[in-house]
Amino acid sequence: MIIGVPKEIKNHEYRVGMVPSSVRELTNKGHVVYVETNAGLGIDFNDQDYIDAGASILNTAKEVFEKAEMIVKVKEPQAVERAMLRQDQLLFTYLHLAPDLPQTNDLVSSGAVCIAYETVTDNRGGLPLLAPMSEVAGRMSIQAGAMALEKSKGGRGMLLGGVPGVEPAKIVIIGGGMVGTNAAQMAVGLGADVVILDRSIDALRRLNAQFDNRVKAIYSTAAAIEKHVLEADLVIGGVLVPGAAAPKLVTKEHIKQMKPGSAIVDVAIDQGGCVETSHATTHQDPTYIVDDVVHYCVANMPGAVARTSTVALNNATLPYIIKLADLGYRNALLQDKHLLNGLNVMHGKITCKEVAEALGLEFVDPKILLA
Ligand SMILES: NC(=O)c1ccc[n+]([C@@H]2O[C@H](COP(=O)([O-])OP(=O)(O)OC[C@H]3O[C@@H](n4cnc5c(N)ncnc54)[C@H](O)[C@@H]3O)[C@@H](O)[C@H]2O)c1
Repeated sequence: MIIGVPKEIKNHEYRVGMVPSSVRELTNKGHVVYVETNAGLGIDFNDQDYIDAGASILNTAKEVFEKAEMIVKVKEPQAVERAMLRQDQLLFTYLHLAPDLPQTNDLVSSGAVCIAYETVTDNRGGLPLLAPMSEVAGRMSIQAGAMALEKSKGGRGMLLGGVPGVEPAKIVIIGGGMVGTNAAQMAVGLGADVVILDRSIDALRRLNAQFDNRVKAIYSTAAAIEKHVLEADLVIGGVLVPGAAAPKLVTKEHIKQMKPGSAIVDVAIDQGGCVETSHATTHQDPTYIVDDVVHYCVANMPGAVARTSTVALNNATLPYIIKLADLGYRNALLQDKHLLNGLNVMHGKITCKEVAEALGLEFVDPKILLA
């Protein structure tokens, strides 16, 4: 198969769809890989590294899109990239379509086969291609929150762990999955007072056992969220209903009643955010303030630690890239029900139920299209 890796163009995005070692795995198997020039330069993978791995370098994204049968990226395709997609092309990347009607419409019109990393599943009910980025974002969320609490950012001037004789900050983590667990690990390490809310009893049991009662794992109801959010110095939003837009669990009214100078890191912003007052921000200008509450809502947090993130992501995506390249999308999707769960859009139809429901569009069973 001919595989194309364009340079990412989203604001301050330095990750890349494939690192040279992944390219080598594919070229060793006889596949052809085109990489846009300088695609990995921001994280110290230069064109020569890709050439040494067997890739050919092209000067523009346009050339990569023209030649490739499969495009491998990191972030959702931007409008100029969507305009280059063809109906005989396979796109494998993060999409996060549920809160994004313009992107969904463009992918539908392109006719391309679009597989989203974030809805590929595994045997344990997890999301194996979201997990590595959630580990990174979860760990980063505490760093981001610590900065948001500083006076210069509009925060209440609190050190998360306190000092001897001074109480630590109260951190409330909503969602105890991959983001929440990794955030808790950092927060506990810093000595903060940590509450995690989840509506999965299994998740609460796991958290309790993992942190040996160093966190309070609480069942997530509207009342519990209200109580803890109003007491919080820092709130981390890490909920996920796979494929669907994030539920708005922290409301405008909560924000009005939160402590002045408290902070929210809404990691779930890539699914629309779980806070009513959240809107996506960038690494260049990551925070804004609503009713004296500092909001950090960067939709591509792992982009800030792009080298770590790219290698972690590639470790997870490589087996699927190889499967798609070796078998072609049709056979690969028919043979692997977990990869099939990643199929969001195919030949002008929406094949992910949650995306269709979130956007009020028609869902078509992918098995019918693949038959
Ligand atoms: N901003 C970024 O850069 C970035 C990076 C990585 C992941 N994310 C996003 O972070 C979010 C969380 O990802 P994850 O990998 O941790 O998902 P996950 O599936 O591992 O965990 C989500 C958790 O939310 C819980 N949940 C669902 N509804 C809830 C509710 N009403 N109250 C409390 N908990 C609830 C689930 O039970 C689950 O335990 C996703 O939206 C993901 O896309 C964002």
